Amino acid sequence: EPSESISIQTLKTAIPQAIWQFLERSAIASQARGWHLYVVGGAVRDLLLAQGGRAANGRSFLQDIDLVVDGFHNAADAGAGVELAKALQQEYPQARLEVHGAFQTAALLWHKDPILHSLAVDIATARTEFYPYPAANPEVEASSIRQDLYRRDFTINALALRLTAPHKGELLDFFGGILDLKSRQVRVLHANSFIEDPTRIYRAVRFAVRLGFTLEPQTEQYIRYAIESGVYDRLRLTHDKAPALTTRLKSELKYILETHYWKPALQLLSSLGALRCLHPQLKLTPQLWWQVRFLDRCLQRFDPNRRMIHWEMRLEALIASLPSEERAPVATHLQLSGETIERLKQLEKNRQRIAQSLSTDLRPSKIVMALRAYKLPTLVLLALKGSRTVRQQIWQYLTCWSQISAPLDGNDLKSLGYNPGPQFKEMLDALLWAKLDGAIADRSDAEVFLQKHYPVSQ
Ligand code: CTP
Repeated sequence: EPSESISIQTLKTAIPQAIWQFLERSAIASQARGWHLYVVGGAVRDLLLAQGGRAANGRSFLQDIDLVVDGFHNAADAGAGVELAKALQQEYPQARLEVHGAFQTAALLWHKDPILHSLAVDIATARTEFYPYPAANPEVEASSIRQDLYRRDFTINALALRLTAPHKGELLDFFGGILDLKSRQVRVLHANSFIEDPTRIYRAVRFAVRLGFTLEPQTEQYIRYAIESGVYDRLRLTHDKAPALTTRLKSELKYILETHYWKPALQLLSSLGALRCLHPQLKLTPQLWWQVRFLDRCLQRFDPNRRMIHWEMRLEALIASLPSEERAPVATHLQLSGETIERLKQLEKNRQRIAQSLSTDLRPSKIVMALRAYKLPTLVLLALKGSRTVRQQIWQYLTCWSQISAPLDGNDLKSLGYNPGPQFKEMLDALLWAKLDGAIADRSDAEVFLQKHYPVSQ
């Protein structure tokens, strides 16, 4: 039952001043209309964690705030959240207002604001407003915020902080969230939660790893049960009927694979069996685990400016561990990029081709000939999947040989008296191979080389 509260003084010191001011104004606007206003979800969780001296690792503190308006006396107030957002936008004209009609929610979004930075505030209406409760019944008022919280995923996300008087600063904790924050556990609210919304399995893992919490044992059982009972298999089979769920699953995957804690998260997902959501056979074997870490080394080394999409490459490496005919369908189902799908389609063919041409201990020129047609992401993928020799050769190619160029260019050939034509490419390549294999080093070597192999025709 609701018990604790945070003193206004504490809130004022914990919350950045400009945000606190915004919250105060929101409360005043709500009170004036006879409504109650609550901060709910992640912001309350992170505020309490910060109170306990623990930073809410990985989330920019109070940049996303979810508000819920509650306490109606008639159904006409169903659009309360939207009305409040509109009223607040009058006071904050620099914020952009977005209204999501279907759910009667609104958002106020700041962008590069000098004071509020990129603050995003979602304002929802507690969702039991249409029920014909008798007006002015205080229990009803409490119950619609309770219902709103009851629908949420974990106890630590189901806390509400009241902003309106009376009882301003009161924490609504119907499900033991405060205790779970103290004992650092991710606990689900309902036994069926993961079956109804399998993306919550990914959320559970994400919160556990990010906050350094454990999965509460019963919750872990529910997760395993949901997976064993085939939530993900059903998800794949019924994709055509519910594409939105796949989209949400993909965004959870993306979220996790983008964070700096993706490695422990992936291990936890795997140990729960949650990689089944991609494919029933997908397992994080020691080999695959090694491959994703090798991939990470490649990305850090060869793509420091992040031109490639790193989370998608990680996913690609996971999918690449599946039997070759399964890869492209999985990637297509997840609506990954066309390039990723294409790479996965071609992977087996390219892998065989490379395995053949790079099988023996080769001169650098042969390696460059075999590899230069491929782009970086393909090479990285081929390195992951290749033998040790292939991997070493690709690594050498990327770190060293791909940077070497012929000592002369087309203009040099012209000034040496050669006539431009298709032969130029052949000559420049011949120079490159000779340089790569150490037969020539500088321009004068190159000129001697040309005189010998390509005497100028008179
Ligand atoms: N929520 C839920 N089930 C989901 C997604 C969200 O119950 N599948 C609820 C949770 O109560 C969550 C709130 O919606 O706190 C807001 O969702 P989101 O912004 O994704 O979560 P945050 O807790 O704010 O997480 P983060 O700190 O990562 O932004």
